[in-house]
Amino acid sequence: MINYLTAIKGKELKNHENDHDGLDKIFDRHLPTKQGHNYLPIYQRHFENVRFDVKKVLEIGVEAGTSLRMWEEYFPNADIYGLDIEEACKAAEKGRIKVIIGDQCSEADLSKLPDDFDIIIDDGLHTISSQIFCFDYLFKNKLAERGIYVVEDVIGATKIFDYFNNIAKLNNYWPENEGGEIWSSLNDLGPYLEKDSRFNEKEIYYIKNVLGVSIYRHLIFVDKGRNPEDGQAAFRLLNAKKWGQVGKIRGDFIQSTDFTPTSEKFSTKNPLKIFLQKLK
Ligand SMILES: C[S@@+](CC[C@H](N)C(=O)[O-])C[C@H]1O[C@@H](n2cnc3c(N)ncnc32)[C@H](O)[C@@H]1O
Repeated sequence: MINYLTAIKGKELKNHENDHDGLDKIFDRHLPTKQGHNYLPIYQRHFENVRFDVKKVLEIGVEAGTSLRMWEEYFPNADIYGLDIEEACKAAEKGRIKVIIGDQCSEADLSKLPDDFDIIIDDGLHTISSQIFCFDYLFKNKLAERGIYVVEDVIGATKIFDYFNNIAKLNNYWPENEGGEIWSSLNDLGPYLEKDSRFNEKEIYYIKNVLGVSIYRHLIFVDKGRNPEDGQAAFRLLNAKKWGQVGKIRGDFIQSTDFTPTSEKFSTKNPLKIFLQKLK
């Protein structure tokens, strides 16, 4: 059984290279509060594939600096920034760790942070308004393309979940009154969104720039980036030959059996349906 979410209890988390420990062993050396909430296996799940590519991390909430030291060791190629309102947290500065004193609820303070973080973690004030305010500002202005934004201690079935559930809903955008036949012309959502009065400017930003939302107990991850159907990343555009092979396998199967794809049955372009409509 794959058991990565609870692996910390009985088994070591996966180590990447012989000389690099997993997050559980690194945790043992620095002891941040995070594992009290069983967050580490979830962090490892999201971070392990990018561990050696990450260049810049920001954590809001420094306190004794234990989590910054854990990230410094886990991401060997990254500068680790901490933001905290308390001057005393400056003491955590050492090695690749830099601490910036500022208020996460102040746009002026957030705007002074460096740009292009690969990872941003909000473990600061933990009020709903500060979590939403920071997410809206930092995700757009300070997180790099393909970056990962994390909100810790999102507790209770409150409006913070509605907020991130809505972002997941926006990510599943589909133009109003359009059927499946426009799938391959979705490459640039712009023309559809311009005509779509259901969404405001901020929502359109999230429609275009969120790859996915992962909601765990008390912990939320949002991945930033254009979806595969958007722009030139489209598999169909870049791999026309392979996409042709995909179509051929499907076509051969449909022709050699009595199989009618479900999408055809419901399509407004289904010839049988059009014929029956004309008869009405
Ligand atoms: C839970 S502790 C951080 C723990 C740390 N990340 C760790 O895992 O070891 C929360 C921190 O947020 C800081 N904080 C509270 N309100 C803040 C604000 N408005 N702006 C920035 N930091 C704030 C506190 O001073 C405190 O150090």
